[in-house]
Amino acid sequence: MFGELFPEAVRYAELLADAGVKRGLIGPREVPRLWERHLLNCAVLSEVVPEGVTVCDVGSGAGLPGIPLALVRPDLKITLLEPLLRRTNFLQEVVELLGLDHVTVVRGRAEEVLGTLQPVQVVTARAVAPLDRLAGWGVPLLKPYGEMLALKGDTAEEEIAGARAALGKLGVVETEVLHVGEGVVDPLSTVVRVVVGESPGGVRFAAKRAKAARTGRTRRRR
Ligand SMILES: C[S@@+](CC[C@H](N)C(=O)[O-])C[C@H]1O[C@@H](n2cnc3c(N)ncnc32)[C@H](O)[C@@H]1O
Repeated sequence: MFGELFPEAVRYAELLADAGVKRGLIGPREVPRLWERHLLNCAVLSEVVPEGVTVCDVGSGAGLPGIPLALVRPDLKITLLEPLLRRTNFLQEVVELLGLDHVTVVRGRAEEVLGTLQPVQVVTARAVAPLDRLAGWGVPLLKPYGEMLALKGDTAEEEIAGARAALGKLGVVETEVLHVGEGVVDPLSTVVRVVVGESPGGVRFAAKRAKAARTGRTRRRR
């Protein structure tokens, strides 16, 4: 799965198992299942991420799914977005230690960085919030016709059904449930794919984005 960057993947697993646990970023019970439930489960998301796009991993935590995705896809430009300082410090260390030049760490909440982050083609997320709330944070960060890929559990279909009205207001034009990781993970990873039309986030966010563009607030925060 990780090809030439397998040594970096091993290093990341070691960092999660050591500093990640000591600094409370990952539970000690996760250590024996780091590869299957975390690194591989997240890396297989790459199957559905288009070539050469910009990605924002919302609520990256200890770097999941953003870091495994970055390890298998050097063609992507990935922003790891995370509000908690303890976590962004860890993420910055991982990015530097693994030499991931195509990854940037940004501290902030999705709803607060809107207008300061360049819109992206793809938003990824795992275990951040129920779909309706997650979409409210992630979808406005997208470029027109972009997509959000959320790793979800067995409740994916139910979450889509419950979020349908909220998704419609956010300018979502298509939703589907995908299963990825054939031959790599068992069970397969479940991904909710949410595609937006020309106005990501709907009318309310179009106005907010236009205002940010007028006042020149589009800048990157580290
Ligand atoms: C349960 S953790 C999951 C972390 C990681 N994605 C994973 O799968 O291990 C949820 C993360 O979302 C972050 N978060 C919560 N609200 C957020 C928001 N509004 N914008 C961005 N990140 C947020 C939290 O700080 C936390 O790191």
